[in-house]
Amino acid sequence: MTKTFHIAGIPGDGIGPEVTAEGYKILKTIEQLDPSIAFESTEFPWGCEYYHRYGKMMDEDGIEQLKKFDAIYLGAVGYPGVPDHISLWDLLLKIRKSFDQYVNIRPIKLLEGVTSPLRAEYSDIDMLVIRENSEGEYAGAGDRLFQGTPEEVALQTGVFSRKGTERIIRYAFEEAKALNKSVTSISKGNALNYSMVFWDEVFEEVSRDYPDIPTHSYLVDAASMFFVTDPARFEVVVTSNLFGDIITDLGAGLTGGLGLAAGANINPEKTYPSMFEPIHGSAPDIAGQQKANPLAAIWSISQMLDFFGEEAWGKKVLEALEQTIADGDTLTPDMGGTATTAETGTKVASYLEEIA
Ligand code: NAI
Ligand code: MG
Repeated sequence: MTKTFHIAGIPGDGIGPEVTAEGYKILKTIEQLDPSIAFESTEFPWGCEYYHRYGKMMDEDGIEQLKKFDAIYLGAVGYPGVPDHISLWDLLLKIRKSFDQYVNIRPIKLLEGVTSPLRAEYSDIDMLVIRENSEGEYAGAGDRLFQGTPEEVALQTGVFSRKGTERIIRYAFEEAKALNKSVTSISKGNALNYSMVFWDEVFEEVSRDYPDIPTHSYLVDAASMFFVTDPARFEVVVTSNLFGDIITDLGAGLTGGLGLAAGANINPEKTYPSMFEPIHGSAPDIAGQQKANPLAAIWSISQMLDFFGEEAWGKKVLEALEQTIADGDTLTPDMGGTATTAETGTKVASYLEEIA
């Protein structure tokens, strides 16, 4: 019996279509190697070009259309000419919120063969950041008062519900349990005296259900320093939406740059589809030139396979990616090479064939 996974593809803007094409190449390769698996993908042309033509980032009933898929594979959205808050809120955040993708998983791992700006060995940086993805500082709560007057005031309210805070922290503990690792909470209870004091209390409460798991708790400023001076102390990390956004880009910088960083937006209950994406943007400066690094988009495919329960394939894709980096002669310019986006994807696919 063949298992068929249904994927909604949103290649999006700029380098999005170029890098996701390489992700599909990997899925095709797996289909050829393993007759028990099939992937059926449907492409949605949503994004900034669509906005220019139709005045909206996605179809009116876009969320309804996406509901029936097992997963969404996203390239990047955003392009000069469309304000970033529109492209972000009307597509990416709309999907994350409508589908209650409250867990954002970002592996921060220094792969063999990648040179970190730190004097770090690849074994020193291997963490899993679990970022709250549905509320917190990005809840969209706030107001603009007295606009255009000298009394103008902007309010942006952080929203931390017990349900939202507890479920993300519990998710991190469950991951740590499965991986036999510690959990570190990153917050800011000294300055954010309501939301982050609450966060710390919930972390403390949930940790009591996992007496065997070692825990640490850092303020986000100190944690940022330790990311650089002693990354080995972090294993599973759980943090709020804003802090997670920032520290994962810091982590990406320490482990090979944006071209290598992937992120999964998960609805753990599987009530709705989860979404997999490279965390970089549409890179207008290099778009359409086959210069973009497809490895982050391919890493997202590995995360998607894990999510589908095809962990053996997920692991093999990551291995093929590591071999491509270790080999070093087929890498894109951001990693010091001269290969095109497509050549790099083909190289990963050929290593995957070798491994399988
Ligand atoms: P960006 O990630 O697109 O680019 C930042 C820098 O990294 C650029 O120099 C770019 O060339 C380089 N870069 C990014 N991805 C790369 C790759 N795969 N290979 C090689 N180099 C790569 O961020 P930027 O410039 O701030 O944003 C551009 C647009 O993308 C904006 O409209 C922004 O809103 C949007 N954006 C969308 C995201 C998403 O869809 N998840 C995330 C971040 C930004
Ligand atoms: Mg970000």
